[in-house]
Amino acid sequence: MSKRYYLTTPIYYPSDNLHIGHTYTTVAADTLKKFKQAQGYEVYFVTGSDEHGQKIEQKAKENNMEPKEYVDMIVENIKRLWSMLGVSYDKFIRTTDKDHEKVVQKIFTQLYEQGDIYKSHYEGWYCTPCESFWTESQLLDGKCPDCGRDVQLTKEEAYFFRLSKYKDRIIQLFEENPDFLQPESRRNEMINNFLKEGLEDISVSRSTFDWGVKVPFDPKHVVYVWIDALACYITALGYGMDNDENFQKFWPANLHLVGKEIVRFHTIIWPALLMALGLEVPKKVFGHGWILFDDDKMSKSKGNVIYPEPIIDLYGIDAFRYFLLRDFSFGQDGSFTREKFLQRINSDLANDLGNLVSRTVTMVEKYNDGILPEPVLKEELDNSLVEVAVNAKEKVEKYMDQLNFSQALEEIWKVVRRTNKYIDETTPWILIKEGKKDRLDTVLYNLTESIRIIATLISPFMENTAKEIFNQIGFSHKIDWEEAKEWGIIKAGTKVNKGKVLFPRMDIAKELEKLEEANQKLIEERSKKAEGEEEYISIEDFDKVKLKVAEVIEVKDHPNADKLLVLKLKLGDEIRQVVSGIKKYYSKEDLVGKKVVVIANLKPVKLRGIESKGMILAAEKDGKLTLVSTLEDIESGATIS
Ligand code: ME8
Ligand code: MG
Repeated sequence: MSKRYYLTTPIYYPSDNLHIGHTYTTVAADTLKKFKQAQGYEVYFVTGSDEHGQKIEQKAKENNMEPKEYVDMIVENIKRLWSMLGVSYDKFIRTTDKDHEKVVQKIFTQLYEQGDIYKSHYEGWYCTPCESFWTESQLLDGKCPDCGRDVQLTKEEAYFFRLSKYKDRIIQLFEENPDFLQPESRRNEMINNFLKEGLEDISVSRSTFDWGVKVPFDPKHVVYVWIDALACYITALGYGMDNDENFQKFWPANLHLVGKEIVRFHTIIWPALLMALGLEVPKKVFGHGWILFDDDKMSKSKGNVIYPEPIIDLYGIDAFRYFLLRDFSFGQDGSFTREKFLQRINSDLANDLGNLVSRTVTMVEKYNDGILPEPVLKEELDNSLVEVAVNAKEKVEKYMDQLNFSQALEEIWKVVRRTNKYIDETTPWILIKEGKKDRLDTVLYNLTESIRIIATLISPFMENTAKEIFNQIGFSHKIDWEEAKEWGIIKAGTKVNKGKVLFPRMDIAKELEKLEEANQKLIEERSKKAEGEEEYISIEDFDKVKLKVAEVIEVKDHPNADKLLVLKLKLGDEIRQVVSGIKKYYSKEDLVGKKVVVIANLKPVKLRGIESKGMILAAEKDGKLTLVSTLEDIESGATIS
């Protein structure tokens, strides 16, 4: 059996507004990576940014930036967020990576040459936020059926991919591989809504804007952004490049994890493209549900975003990751509320897990000088604890294989709760009073051993907490997944270290206020920043403008324009010529000898055939115009700053 696992998240649109919904796919993927690694798999985990297309081009324009400049600026937001969440990907691919772009061109050319892509004309609807084409009949009340936003009527020359040709093979793929698309509900949706209807060829190029990978043999066209983005799953492995070692090693993907709204691209278009390229299709696509807020999909425009940063700042990565994976059923939509988050952390992490660890370590310190005792006096009761603890691993594995993160965690918490109950059943504080030291020793050992198993099992979900628990119980081994099914691994005689409280118990009302405030502050900061970028220039920007005082020494009429004057200006030692549209306001005599202000480093231009080097500043209001000068007289050539 091959012990390799290739796993991807979608290739994210870069954004300056990533909210907790965006973290969902990536946190799940990262947890799965750590789980598979714990099981001994060699895992390759790819994520990245989807930077081309009309949407990004528009946003760049709104920010007065070139698209590349814009994406370079905002792509960092994604990386920052992943690092903040402890996500460890093996490759971050950007669709603007040069080597990726080259392969996309190669693929496009190959498909064209073999007849799978042909030139035609597109007429239909386009949803820019989703970057997707729709036919009239697919629209819902005239809006995009995926996101509900407005669509634009689009008519343009376009290349088409012969998706129709692959229809039978796609149906066969679904039929022969019930696991190809999960959960089941999505599979039915694809079959009934798309495959049964029949597949039409799809447009795979755009010709009305140019932020994208150019079609090499027809550069008026750019490759449709979804083709570009999907190709990342193979270019990230080096497909079509000099070194395709990783491609040979890891393709086909074991799993593409995606949100439900992009399942269609991943289970119909993507496999068809791969078939056309003669490549294997991914083994599985899982379409998870949405994190809703007030029963609505989170979005900036609806003003209901919840940012992960305040949650992580206040309660840590592990609490956040635990909540996402425990509280939501991975396949389904679920609503996020801060109350639910705080309650969950209080009950599962502070009360159940945190208490168990701190009570146990405290008792070992108090009753046995912090040294883990030898278990000598066993009782029947112990078996029920041991059984629950050593059997959990297999259950966790079963649920993780189904990507049922929530149930996998529930299985671990059954051990946590069983172990807490064991404390109540054995009452160590009475054992010590009654001098039953042998029995007490066994109880302390069993508690600690059970905690070791718990820490091992939670390690893919909550790496830091697992390490901290190992540290507190004095277990210095590397975390070994297989040892989760063994009893008696931790050695008597090890020293425990009472550390910090893992998850302090919180006053929910107070925390709620804190959280809301922090989120609101961030919303305001970010919207201010967005405005600021439009309205303010930086001091560096201003520094670029060189303003100087100049004396007018000669004024003539422009030979070819009624409204213009041609002025000779003296700027210190330099004499230069400037053309200005002030003839209506000033006579030539008025101007000679006056000191004015010019932009000295403005790029020279020819105005109606006459060279102009610089621009004279003037103030204007309600049809009145006056030239700008200094309050006191100053020599020409003086700089203004
Ligand atoms: O779709 N709840 O990128 P993206 C759960 N570039 N998941 C959510 C969510 C929410 N409220 N909001 C977003 C794209 N996501 C394309 C992919 S792949 C070749 C190209 C998830 O940035 C969403 O479902 O819009 C998706 O899995 C991921 O965030 C990235 O979405
Ligand atoms: Mg999206």
